[in-house]
Amino acid sequence: MKTIMTDKKTAQGLSRGLTNYGDTGFSLFLRKAFIKGAGLTDEALSRPVIGIAMTGSAYNPCHGNTPQLLEALKRGIMLAGGLPMEFPTISLHEGFSQPTSMYLRNLMAMDTEEMIRAQPMDAVVLIGGCDKTVPAQLMGAASAGVPAVQLITGSMLTGSHRGERVGACTDCRRYWAKFRAQEIDQAEIDDVNDQLVPSVGTCSVMGTASTMACISEALGISVPGGASPPAVTADRMRVAEETGRVAVQMAKTGLTPEKILTPEAFENALRVLLAIGGSTNGIVHLAAMAARVGLELDLKALDRMGRDTPVLLNLKPSGEHYMEDFHSAGGMATLLRELKPLLHLDALTCTGRTLGEELERQSAFAQNVVRTRANPIYPQGGIAVLWGNLAPGGAVIKQSAADAKLMEHTGRAVVFENSADLAARIDDPALDVNADDILVLKHIGPKGATMPEAGYLPIPSKLARAGVKDMVRISDGRMSGTAFGTIVLHVTPEAAVGGPLAYVQSGDRIALSVSQRSLQLLVSDDELARRRAATPLPDTSAPRGYRKLFMSTVLQADRGADFDFLQPPITGKVPRG
Ligand code: FES
Repeated sequence: MKTIMTDKKTAQGLSRGLTNYGDTGFSLFLRKAFIKGAGLTDEALSRPVIGIAMTGSAYNPCHGNTPQLLEALKRGIMLAGGLPMEFPTISLHEGFSQPTSMYLRNLMAMDTEEMIRAQPMDAVVLIGGCDKTVPAQLMGAASAGVPAVQLITGSMLTGSHRGERVGACTDCRRYWAKFRAQEIDQAEIDDVNDQLVPSVGTCSVMGTASTMACISEALGISVPGGASPPAVTADRMRVAEETGRVAVQMAKTGLTPEKILTPEAFENALRVLLAIGGSTNGIVHLAAMAARVGLELDLKALDRMGRDTPVLLNLKPSGEHYMEDFHSAGGMATLLRELKPLLHLDALTCTGRTLGEELERQSAFAQNVVRTRANPIYPQGGIAVLWGNLAPGGAVIKQSAADAKLMEHTGRAVVFENSADLAARIDDPALDVNADDILVLKHIGPKGATMPEAGYLPIPSKLARAGVKDMVRISDGRMSGTAFGTIVLHVTPEAAVGGPLAYVQSGDRIALSVSQRSLQLLVSDDELARRRAATPLPDTSAPRGYRKLFMSTVLQADRGADFDFLQPPITGKVPRG
């Protein structure tokens, strides 16, 4: 038997993290005996071990290309002299996660972290794509501390409905709104249903999945060019092969996540989030990821950053194109080149080169998907942060995807106490609601309802039929990054923990001013105090299991809705400006 180091600090490959039988030599002997049962040789076992966190699942068509990705990735690992070892983790798809994928994100992060830690690997490749998977994997990998690189599954292709190009999920919502307004019939909505998702892969607009793919590349934790290739393309497979090579190199150099996930890298990622018109969910996930390396997301500084970061990417829902168009336009290299003066070009990436060095290696060409800073899609960052007596801890609005006429608006509140109340009354013909009212939904925050994407309240059907397309809507929940509307989200603190939102009543007046970054409930402090005293907090406890863990430890949106015990002490803030 070959001698393999078993000292904890210097152990590599198969001898890392041995199972504890009280005899390290026996532990390694046993491990090798079992893995040889799978036909591996000593030669294979002497190589750097590259774990592959596999998230293929029949329930996750956004990851439907994982068999092809795995083949290309393994090729890259072996070409570079490593030994690929895939292992399964939880996989989350938005449409197949009850009650919400957000409820399970932290479970996936814990699964990822613990399986990286438990199993011997010198580096790990994280295959993720659908909304919660990438943040969960990066949160887990940041805590595990093993060299890690993200491999994005890639976006789906676009479809065509009666000559019109369509893609999930901005067009899902647009067509469903038409159906609710009785502008199209059952036969047409059935036809649309066949065309919205014409291939495997993640949503084809700048939703949360595309946002997290771009953020991952901006952070330097996925390979250059790794964000934009569609799932079913040769470019995507080449990215997978390249990721394998990079993973082996990271294993050899010990390039651990905390060397990449620096304050500079997070500032670059936040800049990109603002410039792509990214999903509001990106803020929650970046807060959670940054906290895993001891950094607190400073919403005030982020909002300041937004004032000098225009939206440049012309993708739905803020613009008109789709992810495959972004890829044809050069992908992230084109965007990052345009943002260059605003970026930390010395931030280290997973390749061992800096972001600036990587940009120098990419060639520029004329295209029409990424605008220049002189001719932006929207003059400020896509997301603005609001404060006021209704949101003392902040709230967010995707201003680039909102109706400009509603961004300075005072109106009468029409309140729904929770999602069930909303479902029961929103389409009631007797509902007392007008187009200039403000719809308020309570109790869909982290503790209230595990923070579903229910903040995109539907327009009451009687108003939709009358042609109303947008209204101001306010909640403590989230919304899909693919949605369009004047929608205030993540109101913090949430209603379920006694945030002021809990005490709004129908008929109150609310003043929204995006230009002033203000969200005010026009009710006196005395009256609010009286309502607070008269309203008991809801019981959010759970008797057992993961739900008990979730309800007893989940943090508010501004802390990333992570579990309190997973975050190390805070040592700094991002952005720092
Ligand atoms: Fe998976 Fe949209 S549902 S990315």
